Amino acid sequence: KHGYFTFDPGFLATGSCESAITYIDGANGVLLHRGYPIDQLATEADYLEVCYLLMNGEAPTSEEYKEFVSIIKNHTMVHEGIASFFNGFSRDAHPMAMLCAVTGALSSFYHNDLDISDPDQRKRCIKRLVAKMPTIAAMCYKYSIGQPFVGPKNSLSYSENFLNMMFSVPAEDYEINPAVAKAMDRIFTLHADHEQNASTSTVRLSGSSGANPYACIAAGIASLWGPAHGGANEACLTMLEEIGSVDRIDEYVAKAKDKSDPFRLMGFGHRVYKNFDPRAKVMRETCHEVLDSLGIDDPLLDVAMKLEKIALEDPYFVEKKLYPNVDFYSGIILKAIGIPTSMFTVIFALSRTIGWISHWDEMLSQPGAKIGRPRQMYTGSDKRDFQPIEK
Ligand code: SDX
Repeated sequence: KHGYFTFDPGFLATGSCESAITYIDGANGVLLHRGYPIDQLATEADYLEVCYLLMNGEAPTSEEYKEFVSIIKNHTMVHEGIASFFNGFSRDAHPMAMLCAVTGALSSFYHNDLDISDPDQRKRCIKRLVAKMPTIAAMCYKYSIGQPFVGPKNSLSYSENFLNMMFSVPAEDYEINPAVAKAMDRIFTLHADHEQNASTSTVRLSGSSGANPYACIAAGIASLWGPAHGGANEACLTMLEEIGSVDRIDEYVAKAKDKSDPFRLMGFGHRVYKNFDPRAKVMRETCHEVLDSLGIDDPLLDVAMKLEKIALEDPYFVEKKLYPNVDFYSGIILKAIGIPTSMFTVIFALSRTIGWISHWDEMLSQPGAKIGRPRQMYTGSDKRDFQPIEK
């Protein structure tokens, strides 16, 4: 029993559940995926290896990895009918609005992986989603800037392919910088999964009703969009740009400490971590690597580093255990790569798809999985008789 609610084997009335995928120790800043520390995975493995690990429970052998990469590459294209979906959007539609709509519509194109009781169909759907999300994400960007869609190229790695679909144009190829491709792959890995966060719980709750996996992922995308969750990377960069220079930081820190002011320091704090987010540590190193390799001297990084220093030393933040989270540095890296802020959460959603769909698959494979039905503490009126009125 958990407090007011009973524990259902398949799903949690409290919105929590049994899972073997990710472990977080918020007090000590620990994040494990299937037992492996996130900093090792982010530096020793690539994103597709992490996808294989999350969905299967074990890291792939060299042969299994090669076969998995080949399968993913054979699913990267999308049905031509999906391209026509975009014509219904206005050019200034937020890319997250397009991603959510198009992902939800995938079930109208792919019908041989919708039998959620069949583990093989579930695994096929997972591979399809991992393969197609970069293609759809890049389509959202290209449509928003009025450029033609660029199809996937199997000669490229997963992150190289995404960058190429984002930035190459018919007039000239995009020259892939290995340091940028490595940073992109690392950002995918650092956002891959994170236990029962709001969007993952949304996917699980949607899946517990038997909804098709594409609809469940669209629900996760919608939940992630919020600025308190996946929208924080976009909000963080907007905040850093608004602060603009180190001499204005104190003004914003004061606002963040003023309880009468709804302003929050974007990129700081976490529902679970009361220590440094281990992903933020890797993201910080990657941020410096990318800026150094590109020779970029971004004044926003100066603002970010000074803000980080102040927040880590300020008694208010120390007492409330507020540390930089994964979103604090990712925005600076993405900006350095040339990705617009409107695409930041799209990249978070692309990365997190494997986490969402692995939790969905795990829940459906658990015996006795039940529909999620969180209860409530009722605070309304006592029972009373209705008085009809003259109409
Ligand atoms: C993600 O769940 C996940 O795992 C999410 C995620 C994932 O990978 O899926 O990790 C991704 O969503 C990271 C979080 C990104 N969001 C932001 O950076 C937005 C800014 N952060 C805040 O909105 C906030 O920190 C939350 C929403 C993330 C957490 O808010 P809580 O639950 O209120 O945090 P808390 O209970 O630890 O707060 C303690 C105190 C509170 O003040 P008091 O009520 O005690 O007076 O600190 C305050 C909060 O008001 N506080 C902040 C703050 N975050 C919390 N004050 C100023 N700035 C902040 N950022």
